[in-house]
Amino acid sequence: MDTPRLLSVFRAARLVGVSRGNLQRRIRTEGITTFEGKISTDDLLALYPATELHHDSEYERVQHIKKHAFANRLRERLLPSADILADRVSELGQELAATRAHLAQYQTVLDQITTRLRDTGESPNKKEIHGLLHWVKDTLAAPPVPNDPHKNLFANDTVLRIMAAHIKIQPSNHEFWLEGNDSILDAGVRAGLALNYGCANGNCGLCKARIISGKVKKNQHHDYVLSEAEKNRDYVLMCSCTAVTDVVLEALEASSENDIPTQKIITKIKSIERATDSILILHVQTPRIQRLRFLAGQSVTLSLDNKTGTDFPIASCPCDDRNLFFHIPCDSEKPVVQALIHNSKKGDAITVTGPHGHFLFNEASKRAQLYLAYGTGFAPIKSLIEHAMALEIPAAMDLFWAVDKKENLYMNNLCRSWDDALDNFNYHPVIDTDAVEHLLEKYDNLETVDVYIAGPEIRTKCASEKLLAAGLPDKQLTVSTID
Ligand code: FES
Repeated sequence: MDTPRLLSVFRAARLVGVSRGNLQRRIRTEGITTFEGKISTDDLLALYPATELHHDSEYERVQHIKKHAFANRLRERLLPSADILADRVSELGQELAATRAHLAQYQTVLDQITTRLRDTGESPNKKEIHGLLHWVKDTLAAPPVPNDPHKNLFANDTVLRIMAAHIKIQPSNHEFWLEGNDSILDAGVRAGLALNYGCANGNCGLCKARIISGKVKKNQHHDYVLSEAEKNRDYVLMCSCTAVTDVVLEALEASSENDIPTQKIITKIKSIERATDSILILHVQTPRIQRLRFLAGQSVTLSLDNKTGTDFPIASCPCDDRNLFFHIPCDSEKPVVQALIHNSKKGDAITVTGPHGHFLFNEASKRAQLYLAYGTGFAPIKSLIEHAMALEIPAAMDLFWAVDKKENLYMNNLCRSWDDALDNFNYHPVIDTDAVEHLLEKYDNLETVDVYIAGPEIRTKCASEKLLAAGLPDKQLTVSTID
């Protein structure tokens, strides 16, 4: 009997073309046994018997949404460099050589067993031995099973190992794929992780991490000098190396707002667009060598021409590389808002200072997540949802977006596309009625949920009081108040 091969759930999901959350849910609902986060290929193929190992509409749509969040520069670099390809092929070549040596050894042992069995002479078990010899001969001569799904799965796994490397961070156990010629840092940030770093350019040493297993390769020069002791202990700079093989490394990650220093960055306006008569979408980009570190849901202060700054929640995910988006209500008299409406244009400088705020996602929670956005309170909620999507959080998510009139659902199509793409996400637009009532109709037991509310104080305060009175535990409520 074949020994079942084990694959990590993360890898298995990619091989059968579904999201990790989808596979985790099927494992749970169908009572499949996993072994320390791994699933056997037999069980995987039983769950997805007709898999063609590369297409699934849900996975593709999720990937599409995620790719749209990333900068063009990253999107264009999906192929590993020739150097890395050569290294990966060489690694596979060595593995193939070792496998061949093992096969030759098994063949020798088999030949010797066969010879010894033939030489047993007048054994009382001669008939059984004869039968055994025939069975060995027939089994070895039998043609391989056509279209063996295991073979297809392993072939795809081999291609995947050439095209991408699987990275696991300890102690958090976060996992992500490194594709193209990305540095480990780029790939980790794009996957939504709050890895520790500073310059992203090989100067500060803040992205130092220790390789526990696997092989990495320097892919950009760095001025920062690792000490001999650090080199001997397998420390590398995540911003300056990429992965040749799958890698496990020990690295620092920010887990609270206190873990990220305040940064002041002069960014450039990429676009200012009217989403509606009363809302602007501002897109700014940080310099290539100075990205903003922040946690999903946090805010920054925007200032123009040394005018007093104003705080705005970031409406994008930290996985969005150098791109920062803001949803600006036009009815504000604040100088920054007036300048953005009347004087600013593409290419102008705008200073970003931050991050601040503790409207943060509770990643450790396994509870369902309810998001309640009032008007442009959608901005920080969008950041949290995109972050949860980047991390492939399997928990159920419901978004209730409350506005006074339909036109103010200024990203209605985006929310609908999330609803279409993710089977654990539901979108509920709420127009001119009480969003809390809608929420309570769906969830009558608030002890099983986490609630995130964002919007003007008058709305968030009222919604919080109603939800707490309806039994929501205080520690499961997170609120962001916006002006
Ligand atoms: S982030 Fe500064 S050296 Fe890597």
